[in-house]
Amino acid sequence: MTDIKKIRDEYLNKLKQNLELHEVNQIKTDLFGKNGLISSQFKKINLIAEAERKDFASNLNIIKSELQDLINFKINEIGTSQINKKLDKEKIDITLPERPFILGKIHPVSQTIDEISSIFSEIGFSVEEGPDVENEYNNFTALNTPDNHPARDLHDTFYLAENKERLLRTHTSPVQIRTMLKDKPPFKIIAPGRTYRSDSDQTHSPMFHQVEGLHIDEKINMGHLKGCLNYFIKEFFEVKNIKMRFRPSHFPFTEPSAEVDIGYELKDGKIVIGEGDKWLEILGCGMVHPNVLKNVNVNSIKYQGYAFGIGIDRLAMLKYGINDLRAFFECDYRWLNHFGFDPLDVPSNYRGISR
Ligand code: DAH
Repeated sequence: MTDIKKIRDEYLNKLKQNLELHEVNQIKTDLFGKNGLISSQFKKINLIAEAERKDFASNLNIIKSELQDLINFKINEIGTSQINKKLDKEKIDITLPERPFILGKIHPVSQTIDEISSIFSEIGFSVEEGPDVENEYNNFTALNTPDNHPARDLHDTFYLAENKERLLRTHTSPVQIRTMLKDKPPFKIIAPGRTYRSDSDQTHSPMFHQVEGLHIDEKINMGHLKGCLNYFIKEFFEVKNIKMRFRPSHFPFTEPSAEVDIGYELKDGKIVIGEGDKWLEILGCGMVHPNVLKNVNVNSIKYQGYAFGIGIDRLAMLKYGINDLRAFFECDYRWLNHFGFDPLDVPSNYRGISR
């Protein structure tokens, strides 16, 4: 009994001093470690005469709690005082105005691709992709455009190799070939992406964007093509009525082929899409040529369908009133700031771009 009283008094005194954390931890080990002073007393309980055992055990427990409580209190106290010291030293001035931050904008071409994809996905088209570097077979030959075909010259192709094996795709049409080679019909896809031709002026850029469309099934006819494009144009330009005309044309991979014009008028120098007596060409299309289907092992008696290719940059220019195509690719931050789109999740404290 006296032993434990002595331990108690000695350690209560020690703990009352101004201690560092490691010193308190040392005391904790001295008392409650495996062979600690208090732990050893517990081992002794069985050796105590039965008459005194109960008292001894109960006193030991009281002293154990007393010391443990004080140790815990000390550890907390040291922790709090460390935090307070830190807070005193490291002041944060919360009255400083926040630094302005720059939030990126979505490029009009990306925005337009998203809009186009979402409109077509509503009527059952899925999105396919193909590489920018294509082989000559997918870009021309399989699309019914043999080596000596004059359409190859019209495309002003960038070839990557002397032997003309690898080239920058001149249109998104090779994605038709890739899709039909890897799957079985029916097909109902669009394929937006970058395309390249050696051409540059106010309405042409060496790199530009197209979206390809392909719908092949057992009973697809030109009426479906017209319905689909009519729906798309109305949705895209957000107009109820659209004047549209299909002009006979020629593409090697479609028969018959057509180019589509939409009606517009000029109001206060601005293009208004839908009505009016002026015409704008916006896409090429047609019924997929049986030779193309043969090249990708699709039975052209059982299956047929339509395809189209739309210039994305052109659509973006018309919808958003941009008049020089080259500006799309000049990476001028001020231009992007003006014509770009805010991402959906603009933070509520966003106050515009400051520079
Ligand atoms: N590939 C053509 C071009 O770049 C556009 C085109 C026309 C695509 C008719 C088609 C189509 O799929 O059927 O000029």
